[in-house]
Amino acid sequence: MGTDRFQISGGGERLVFISEDKAPPSLLYWGSADGAPQIDDALLHERPVPQGQLDRGERLDCLPEAGRGFTGHPALICHRADGRFVTQLALLSVDQDETLITFHLVDKAFGIELRLTYQLDSSTGVMTASSCIRNCGKDQLHLEWLSAATIPAHHEEFLFFEGRWTREFQPVRCRIETGLTIKESRSGRTSHHAPPFMIYGSHGFDERQGEAYGVHLAWSGNHRLLAERLRDGRIQIQAGELFLPGEMILAPAASYETPKCHVARSTTGTNGLTARFHPFVRETILGNRLVDRPRPVHFNTWEAIYFNHDMPRLMHLAELSAALGVERFVLDDGWFKGRHDDTAALGDWTVDREKYPDGLIPLINHVKKLGMTFGLWVEPEMANANSDLLRAHPDWILAADGRQQPLGRGQYVLDLTRPDVFDNIHGQIDALLRAYDIGYLKWDMNRDLTHAASRGRPAVHHQTQALYALMDRLRSDHPHVEIESCSSGGGRADYEILKRTDRIWTSDCNDPIERQHIQRHFSIFFPPEVMGAHVGPRHAHTTARITSLEMRAVTALFGHMGIEGNIADFSEGEKSQLATWIGHHKKWRDLLHRGRLTRLAAEDKGLLCLMVEDRDILVSAAQVESPVYATAPHLQLPDLQPTANYRVQLINPPRNPALTMKQTPALIKGNALTVSGAQLAHGGLPLPVLRAGEIALFHLQRLN
Ligand code: GLA
Repeated sequence: MGTDRFQISGGGERLVFISEDKAPPSLLYWGSADGAPQIDDALLHERPVPQGQLDRGERLDCLPEAGRGFTGHPALICHRADGRFVTQLALLSVDQDETLITFHLVDKAFGIELRLTYQLDSSTGVMTASSCIRNCGKDQLHLEWLSAATIPAHHEEFLFFEGRWTREFQPVRCRIETGLTIKESRSGRTSHHAPPFMIYGSHGFDERQGEAYGVHLAWSGNHRLLAERLRDGRIQIQAGELFLPGEMILAPAASYETPKCHVARSTTGTNGLTARFHPFVRETILGNRLVDRPRPVHFNTWEAIYFNHDMPRLMHLAELSAALGVERFVLDDGWFKGRHDDTAALGDWTVDREKYPDGLIPLINHVKKLGMTFGLWVEPEMANANSDLLRAHPDWILAADGRQQPLGRGQYVLDLTRPDVFDNIHGQIDALLRAYDIGYLKWDMNRDLTHAASRGRPAVHHQTQALYALMDRLRSDHPHVEIESCSSGGGRADYEILKRTDRIWTSDCNDPIERQHIQRHFSIFFPPEVMGAHVGPRHAHTTARITSLEMRAVTALFGHMGIEGNIADFSEGEKSQLATWIGHHKKWRDLLHRGRLTRLAAEDKGLLCLMVEDRDILVSAAQVESPVYATAPHLQLPDLQPTANYRVQLINPPRNPALTMKQTPALIKGNALTVSGAQLAHGGLPLPVLRAGEIALFHLQRLN
């Protein structure tokens, strides 16, 4: 008995845990690794117990349990068939090294063992936590909730993310008052409305200041994030997988491990979170697999032709794309048998012979001859009733017996948890990859899971795992094939899907004004090289807004760039501008896809500025609404080496400056200037007068 203390360090961060009298550990400290722990630190953990509560108070430890007197949302909710539900876990043992610690907890009477794991990434300081429960009893264990991590929050200001189709990743700021604030997805994907990440931080934290914690649950199925203000004022955070009723029943000796919860801490607002998350994603989630693999510029056929596939037209689009500098031609929806609109054919992954009498090979050869690689759209988890697959196997869908399954985009979800269905779909996609020279799959998923039952039991968990297994198997057999995660745009975006995909389709909205917002918040957690970003048509299909080519191109340039629109309709002027912007993207993609991204703060909320710095720097300033001021204040570029010198140039000087400026500064005219890092940080860059819908791009070449 007594107090045990444990600590791990990594990436400049330190976590200190204490356990009193063999109780589950509590997080005593999370902060910089600087500074030696003091003898009495642990005593600071003691709190007064207020009147009106249980005599020993409520512990907000790493596994708050109702069975030990916690009246908030417990981290573990489970029961046994005989009605027992009270658990009381105690610390059994601890394994640890410098960056990783595992607490082994046990409740012998209830028959469970629980493992809590925390790891600090040694280069970025991102903390990864997960929990694993094992049923050591003789009967089934009904698990209703197990949080991947429970974190005491010392701040009450939260940023959640919400959205809808074509308007993903919109931040919503709120103060946690009392009780529970819950964000959950019950749609079988990360969702458009409640993606599995959130941020909390000190009062008024913003892009560049304040302490902030970014929480990311790496799971592509149903999830729940919660923040709770307890009745004594403390705040806890939990994140985990959301189970359908009775979904997680563990047989004797079976275990369940939660998804991983990744949390970063910053003392410089959300930019500080990005500074940890981007390298973490590059090194740990992607395992450096995109390093030295320049992201090829795409042409995607969707908004160019929709379902109207026609060989001569596609051949022509391929030629136009190649002439613009495109490197990968992606054939979107509409190429497979009977797919003339979105009511039929999902499930039958063979080429439509009416549209492609000689198959896909002539198109692929043409694309290759033009120097591009070929990508193909698929939606393997889905089937239409009007398909050979479901005509032969109507029972292959996720459905509850005797219940009408609502349709989403006219389609059903296939039951991938059944080995026969899994094998069939695997076989069809594998056959495509064997038959054709395909370097890329755009893997779509276009409906919510509702009656996700398999053989009478809820199945979102197993379906999500089956999806991972399907991707893993295809990847291991076809290691050269890259995969994009798409779900009606950004409906499936998380670090677990990203382990097996190389790009996320951020949104079906190609309107650059909306995209500036969508990409800005997506970029807190995801680096630009995985952020699919396309130059769409002048007249955006999803918003009806008209935008300049410059605005579209510079917005897309900051991600994994592509084109999606009928370039045959683009004017010669637009095409030549687009070719120039693609050339710029190629020239700078190493910088864009390796550098440090900072979202720059501007007084005017309609002016959205970004900077990516490696050795050189790119800065964009997008005026997405009418400017508040007649001239924008100079744009300060933070954290530059004061002694570094830069050759600064505005890449797109206004073609007719006299329209908006009586006098035009030399830099805005397009003259290159040599400026010090110190001056850029303090004095900042002058911006042109930008009207709503205009964008400026600066390049800063480091000279010393
Ligand atoms: C989804 C995707 C789009 C496109 C269509 C094709 O909506 O998000 O990009 O691929 O499906 O049907």
